[in-house]
Amino acid sequence: MRLIISSLAALGLGFSLGTAQADDIQKGKNLHQDNCISCHADMVGGDGTDLYTRDNRIVGDYDHLVRQVNNCNAQLGTNWFDDEIEAVVAYLNAEYYQFDE
Ligand code: HEC
Repeated sequence: MRLIISSLAALGLGFSLGTAQADDIQKGKNLHQDNCISCHADMVGGDGTDLYTRDNRIVGDYDHLVRQVNNCNAQLGTNWFDDEIEAVVAYLNAEYYQFDE
């Protein structure tokens, strides 16, 4: 019985962690969609996401990605909270950069 309860608890935890991350990425995607595309689209055309996959992209690792998102966010003046920055970083990393954290 004990074993069953702890396995259920472990499953529950695994599930909630998994969805928290997916939620984060979805949230980041929405924030990015609403705030970040216009400038980038002017620069590279399309929906601007070519900026993240171009050969000479500037971001080279995870920390750099965090710094760049902070920089662009500062230029934009949205005053995002840390969790919003993290969500956008999570989205960009999952979708385009795929660095190890
Ligand atoms: C005011 C215009 C502007 C806005 C708005 C903007 N960016 Fe940028 N972004 C730039 C410019 C310019 C660069 C290229 C910087 C360079 O080449 O040195 C860039 C580059 C980047 C890169 C690096 C691309 C690469 O080469 O790897 C990331 C990541 C990025 N922006 C994320 C964001 C996010 C996230 C937002 C929304 C918070 C955002 N940007 C909003 C202007 C903007």
